Amino acid sequence: MARTFDQWAEAGRAEAMEDGHRDVVYQVVEKMDIGPGERILDLGCGNGWATRLLARQAPDVEVVGIDISPRMIARARARHDPRLGARYEVAAFESLPFPDEYFHRVFSMESIYYAVDLERALGEIHRVLVPGGVAEVIIDFYLESPGTEVWGEVVGVPMHYLSEAEWRRAFEAVGFHPVTTRRIVDRRGPGDPASFTPTPWCPDWETWVSIHQCGSLWIHAVKPA
Ligand SMILES: C[S@@+](CC[C@H](N)C(=O)[O-])C[C@H]1O[C@@H](n2cnc3c(N)ncnc32)[C@H](O)[C@@H]1O
Repeated sequence: MARTFDQWAEAGRAEAMEDGHRDVVYQVVEKMDIGPGERILDLGCGNGWATRLLARQAPDVEVVGIDISPRMIARARARHDPRLGARYEVAAFESLPFPDEYFHRVFSMESIYYAVDLERALGEIHRVLVPGGVAEVIIDFYLESPGTEVWGEVVGVPMHYLSEAEWRRAFEAVGFHPVTTRRIVDRRGPGDPASFTPTPWCPDWETWVSIHQCGSLWIHAVKPA
């Protein structure tokens, strides 16, 4: 897993993801209403762009971005803004190097379905959250967005392809309640068909429009107080 994402980092894909994920993340972060002094964990932070966005939301916010790829973390550290309360660590979802009940929120964009052991990863998210803390997890790869199914073969690492209801049940199974889901559509639209470039992830314009219209799945999971 680390090797695959190290290669992505070397190929500049962290910055491509930053551009692709920006609008959906802005919409979610706006609704999070982050307060001063909150501690937030960004799971699968890539080059740390969302870690820094979260840290800019209020005074004295402490955000830690973790990623299994040392090259992604190197990129995150290289882009660090020392005025922000952000830092970046190499770590795996399944073994978070933080004490119990440390974070007020866990945030994650387009990462959690890569967990090798999903139940353990969700259990770790639950463990590090304070009672009453919230996990905000966003994914584009889910069953009701059929255009994404091919990603499971293209990426070359095991990925969890679950339905919206299965994601809710997975979070509930480790103790989250309530767990709600909604779709977030990129406000920039699908773009211009003339400038669409086919890739193994998205071979044609119709598939791209379908992925865009299905939107990102936002899972909002509360650890009971
Ligand atoms: C699709 S990228 C998303 C990056 C970033 N959140 C963004 O939106 O730009 C997924 C990230 O999750 C990381 N990742 C995958 N599996 C992981 C695991 N088990 N533990 C920690 N990080 C993992 C990868 O290294 C990669 O940087």
